Amino acid sequence: MEIIKTIAALQNRLQNQPETIGLVPTMGALHNGHLSLIKTALAQTGLVVCSIFVNPTQFTDASDLEKYPRPVEADIEKLAQAGCAVLFMPDVPEIYPQKEHWHLDIGEIEHRLEGKFRPGHYQGVMQVVYKLFMAVKPDFAYFGQKDFQQVKVIEQMVKLKNLPVKTVMCPIVRDADGLAMSSRNVHLSPEERKHALILSWALHQLKKSYVKEASEELRKEAIELINAEPNVQLEYLEIVNAADLDTDISNPQIGIIALVAAKVGQTRLIDNVILA
Ligand code: PAJ
Repeated sequence: MEIIKTIAALQNRLQNQPETIGLVPTMGALHNGHLSLIKTALAQTGLVVCSIFVNPTQFTDASDLEKYPRPVEADIEKLAQAGCAVLFMPDVPEIYPQKEHWHLDIGEIEHRLEGKFRPGHYQGVMQVVYKLFMAVKPDFAYFGQKDFQQVKVIEQMVKLKNLPVKTVMCPIVRDADGLAMSSRNVHLSPEERKHALILSWALHQLKKSYVKEASEELRKEAIELINAEPNVQLEYLEIVNAADLDTDISNPQIGIIALVAAKVGQTRLIDNVILA
């Protein structure tokens, strides 16, 4: 695997490249969720580029940025084993050589759910993903359903900016006990990890008994389940229209999805399940 640190060297490597390019953007601390994106990209494209960049502009909490895990050597090993051809691993000044103002109005979708609890987060995500798209010029870019709202935000950016890239959403990879894999799971103590299971469990129960007419009742039941769990502080559990994440689900064009965010101890976790 080639490890490339500058945009110039990356563009040099990728120019006149005859194969389709698949980009998998990550912030590292790779687990099987990330690797599933690499696998899908490998199956669908001729050359897979993975990026590892802990993007400061998308963090709304300085201590979260500071303590974000950065196991670089292990990440390189995992990517090489998975068959990734190119790893793009820039430092912060390479991506942000000077102070810059970024704003793209994508409408309400930015401000719902995560947007309420992490204002500005998706502007930072779009800013870095746009830069990665410009640097790599991928034909396909792979994102996880784990961050469903992020997928919707990026799709909206691609549409508004007419970017020549197809986004592909890959399913959530879970540990055997149901917990959605996340780079932040390493922060959970063994005790907290047990409490964290209530999130995937509540979503699972919700999906099992889901009928649209009983949405609000079932949502309340799931909230009660989570609130009864010690050490878990629920931020939101919403059942929304998958197209625009609006709570009005009377006309779900592409489906209905339940999304949850909670703090378990000091660690913030998110999860979701497609209901219909
Ligand atoms: P990061 O959290 O590292 O995630 C990178 C990609 O892996 C995202 O598309 C995310 O949805 C996906 N992913 C994470 N956990 C997953 C799981 N359990 N199953 C399937 N996919 C999973 O998301 C980001 O980084 C950043 O916001 C980024 C897009 C790289 C921009 O900085």
